[in-house]
Parts: sequence; C-alpha cells; structure tokens
Amino acid sequence: MKEIQHFLYGGDYNPNQWDRETWKEDMTYFKDARINSATVNVFSWAKIQPTEHQYDFSELDDIMDMLTKENYQIVLATSTAALPAWMFKKYPEVGRTDFEGRHHKFGQRHNACPNSLVYQKYAKRLASKLAERYGDNPQLAYWHINNEYGGECFCENCEKAFRIWLRDKYKTIEALNKAWNLEFWGHTVYEWDEIVLPNALSEGISYKDTAFAGISIDYRRFNSDSMLENFKMEREAIREWDKETPITTNLMGTYYYLDYFKWAKEMDIVSWDSYPAYNTPWSEVALRHDLMRGLKKQPFMLMEQTPSQQNWQPYNSLKKPGQLRAQSFQTIAHGANTIQYFQLRRSIGACEKFHGAVIAHSGTNNTRVFREVKQIGEELEAVGKELLATNIKSKVALIFDWDNYWALEYTSGPNKDLTYVEQIHHIYQYFYKQNISVDLVSLDDDLSDYQLVLAPVLYMIKEGTAEKIEKFVAEGGVLVTGFMSGIVDQSDNVHLGGYPGPLRQLCGVWVEEIDALAPEQRNQIAWTDGQQGEGKLVSDIIHLETAQELAQYASNFYQGTPAVTVNDYQAGKVYYFGTSLDDDSLAILLDKAAASAHIEKAAVDTKLEIVTREGNDVSFTFIINFTDESVPVPEAFTGKTDYLTNQTIDDQLELTPYDVLLIKE
Ligand code: GLA
Ligand code: ZN
Repeated sequence: MKEIQHFLYGGDYNPNQWDRETWKEDMTYFKDARINSATVNVFSWAKIQPTEHQYDFSELDDIMDMLTKENYQIVLATSTAALPAWMFKKYPEVGRTDFEGRHHKFGQRHNACPNSLVYQKYAKRLASKLAERYGDNPQLAYWHINNEYGGECFCENCEKAFRIWLRDKYKTIEALNKAWNLEFWGHTVYEWDEIVLPNALSEGISYKDTAFAGISIDYRRFNSDSMLENFKMEREAIREWDKETPITTNLMGTYYYLDYFKWAKEMDIVSWDSYPAYNTPWSEVALRHDLMRGLKKQPFMLMEQTPSQQNWQPYNSLKKPGQLRAQSFQTIAHGANTIQYFQLRRSIGACEKFHGAVIAHSGTNNTRVFREVKQIGEELEAVGKELLATNIKSKVALIFDWDNYWALEYTSGPNKDLTYVEQIHHIYQYFYKQNISVDLVSLDDDLSDYQLVLAPVLYMIKEGTAEKIEKFVAEGGVLVTGFMSGIVDQSDNVHLGGYPGPLRQLCGVWVEEIDALAPEQRNQIAWTDGQQGEGKLVSDIIHLETAQELAQYASNFYQGTPAVTVNDYQAGKVYYFGTSLDDDSLAILLDKAAASAHIEKAAVDTKLEIVTREGNDVSFTFIINFTDESVPVPEAFTGKTDYLTNQTIDDQLELTPYDVLLIKE
C-alpha cells in the first residue's frame, strides 16, 4: 500500500461548477494558502455518464491533469452518492422507499437503494472505469468511495434482501421467532416471506420506536451491512486496477445508522467530516474525534470541515477569529493526519451557496477566512509531516457499541429521554476536563492494555461480552458501569435472574426495579462521606450482594438504599452507579475509579485543553484555549518553546481565546 508522506491540506474541490479562467485563479489561490491536496469528483456521476450507454471523462481528465501538473495530492471520489436523473427515469427501483413507505423519485442525494441490482451494476462499473483510467496516477493519494453513506431504505428489494440476510443469520424460522420473541402479540411467522421490514407500515411506530426491538435492531444491522456491501463492491472494483492506493469513505462521527466499527475493518484508513454546531461542547467534538481514531486505533483523515459557517444547521454562525485554527489543531491533537475543507470555492447556487469555503463569493484571497486558512496552511507546511508518525496513548477505554446504541434507543421504557451518545459524552466529559486521554473502543477490542474501562449504559450484553469484561476485572482492571446495563442479550431479550444480568456477580449488586424520573424530577444522593448530590433520568433500586455502598438515595420511597457502589472482584474493582449523576457526583465517583486504576491525573488543574501525541522518540503536546477568556499557561510549560511560533513560554504567558501552543519534546 502507498504510504502518504504528506500532511494533506486541502478539501472538496468542484471545478466542474466553474469556467476554466476560474480554475487558473484557483491554482494561484490554493498555492498561496499552502493547500496541497484536492478531493474531486464527489458528485459528478451525471457528467461522467450522461446516458446509460455513454461515458465522458474529458472534463475529469482535464481536472486530473491540471492537479497533477500543479503537484497536488489527489483524493479521488467515485461519485456514486448521487444518481443521475436518467437512471431514475428508466429504473425507478434505484430510488429509496422511506420509513413512511413512500417510494422516492429523482432528487436529493444519498438516494440509492443499497439493494438495487441496477444501482449496484452501474456503481461498480463507474468505480472500475475510474480506477482503470486514473489508478496509476502518481499524484493519486486516496480513493474516496461514495460520500457519507447513510440513511435507510424500506423498498421491496430491501425486504427480499432482508429475508436472505435473516435466513443466513438464523438458519431456521423457529430460531428467528425465538430471537424476536414473536410469541408476544401472536406475531409468529411460519414462512420467510411473511417477514416484512419494520417501518411505519408494520412494526415501526416512529423512527426510533418499534413494537419489536429485536426486528428493528436486526433491520439496523442489515441496513448497515447492505451499505457496507456497496462500499466493498466498489472497493473490489477499484482493486482490480489499483492495488496500491488506500481506500476510504467519509464517516460522520457518532452517526446513528451505521456500525462504524464493522465498517472500519473494511477501510484502509478512516476519514470523517466534522461539523459541530454553534453550541456543540468542545468535549463532544473531541469525543467524536476519539471515536474516529478508535475505529482502527490509528490516526484518521479529517475529510471535511467548514472554514467558516455551514448552511444546514438551524443557526449557522461564523467561526470566530482563531476558532478555525483552534478547531483544526484540536482535530490533529486527537488523531487527524489531514485537514481538509468543504469546500475550496463557495458555489453560486442551490442549498450550499451559504456554506463556508476557502474562497468566498467575493472571489479573492483578501478575506478574513482566507487569511486564517493560509496561516494554518503555513503552520502545517512547517510541522505537519513530523506529526504523521505519532498517535495518542491512553490507559482509559470507553466502550462504544452500535448494537447498544440502537437497542437502548429502541427500548420502550423506562425513560424516553435516555439517549446513548449523551450518556457516553457525560462520562467522557470528566476525562476531557482533566486532560486524561480516552480511547473509544468496541466490544471486539482487546481490553488488556487498559487500566480503566468505562461501560455506561451497556444495556446489551452479547455473546462473549461478559466473559471479556470479567477477565479484564479478574486480572486487576477497574470497571465503571451503571444503570441500564446488563439487561438484554443480542436479540433484545432480557437476561433473566435479576439485573444487571451477566454483570451481577461482577458488580456485586442486584437491581430489583428501575424507576424513571421526568425531566423536572430529581432524586437526592448522600455520599457516605457526607457530600450531597443528585440523580436524574432513572434510579435503580439496588440490593447489595458483595458490593459496598458509596452513596445512597436521600429522597423518594427508596431513600436509604444504595445509589452508587463498589465491588472487589478478584484482582480488580467494579464501580456501579444506579442513576444519572450530576456532574459533581459523577466526578466524585470517577475520581475514586481513576485512583483505583492508578490513572495519573494531570499535574495541573487548568481550563486549557492539553493533549499529547507520541511517536518513537518524540512527543507533541497541544495546548488550546476553548474558553472565552485568557487563561494562564501552566507553570509546567515555562521555559519550553512553542513550535508554531518559536517563542519561549514565560511564566506570565496567558493564552487568549482560541490560541494554540504546540510543544515538541
Ligand atoms: C457533507 C457532505 C458535503 C457537503 C457538506 C456541507 O459533509 O459530504 O458534500 O454537503 O456536508 O456541510
Ligand atoms: Zn431498498
């Protein structure tokens, strides 16, 4: 496989929307901004294949020639994320049927039914033709298949494919009936073709509500697999012509629909598009990066971010001066080995005309945004390459699992406000604030490298999960888990014998009942050392078995019963929290867990974000101010040099909002 030796700095480039004079201008501006890469051909299927039997690569040839001559690294997309109009006209089956059962006409993008054989045939052919034509271009750095795979389809072709997928999984109809507990409401099926897709016309109530979570979770797995098959199909088509160039597709962080851990196994490198809203906490942005790094435990590509604003959020605020730079360095700190924008030149019409770009509608380089892009370009030109061989090392693992994501959010009761990513973020936030790095891991990952494993809302315990966690603890690891954990198996049927099911012995508690709290309700918590706190969302009613109480409920009819516990299990320890704790209470618990796991807390207490990427004999520490006031740089850094500006850090230095320091050691 080609090893890319450049820190790619560039983005989506759509010269096909512009005249040739503009192309020339682009080349000058990009050089000025130190842009060294371009992602092309993302949405050009209609141009390349104007009719069913005709291909025309002339414009793309010119674009590739120009970029090659000008020495840009090229990220070449396959254009299969938006279908040409002729395909819909002749083969309406290529379109999707939505949750409501409406079959869609031509329009929008990400509009192909993943199980349409016509779509598959033409997508494969296009990928193959592109690879045959451009696969040996020396400037080709990455293949970018499709674009932001996602969404879902409920058409008849998908229904047929679902039955085949199920047959393969369950082998017998009896096994399927059992898995989905179809005896409930007399939904037993006797023939495979009695099975229908779970949308609004059948078991689906609304997008995340269903009468049979078992069916809906299987549908999610199937839909994710169907799109993954599309990806693999294009990948194989490319590989027939080009064995060397790494292949990716751009993911979307904590995106609900696709099991990215499964996807990442098929990708040479993970890439993703980061679009925080004006009010997304920086800790959540960091979490998304850590998840993307965690998919392969390797640095990733930032495929897209906007240099200024977006268009599709409700409120598309501008990035404040310095924010783009801070955000870019945060992305790198958490594992990015490229910084790429959507897009390089702002389009003139359609829904993205207000989307930020390196070159704005004014068409000049004399803009605030361009100057910031250029500053980052200059800095990355100087330091980017050295960062490539470094990564983050962490002793803390946080489990993220798409089956659990789907199962928790499909579950009817006890509390509809319980959402997966929010719970993951809540626990992550503590470590973010402490500047302790966290790896996001899957249930397939090896846990033995970690000292502390966090498993909040580990609702679904699949085959092998309990054994894996038990081994980790038995060997001396520290586990933190809590409410809504250990409840169901991989088909969403309850593990009988008392909650938290297979985790009961490990946690040393029996949860007899689970109370739900409405948004305005809270339960008081009293810690054994006298501190007070609150719990919300749900409250487990807990009996101690081998565990000890750390806090108890101080209100409600179960006051005086345990709310937070700890259990010694062989060489390790397990902390259990029975309710969604307020931030301070969660910090009390995690302080204890981190101490038991010998996780070193950062030497300094600071509001700055501090992250280190380590290489063989070098390390890079990023210090970033995401607050809105100046913050003193901790004394530990006095006398060191900021690698970006070559200034020595003195003991008076304060970082202004969005300022960044990079320390090489
Ligand atoms: C996504 C897409 C891009 C563009 C941006 C706009 O990430 O991949 O084509 O539409 O959104 O933010
Ligand atoms: Zn379909």
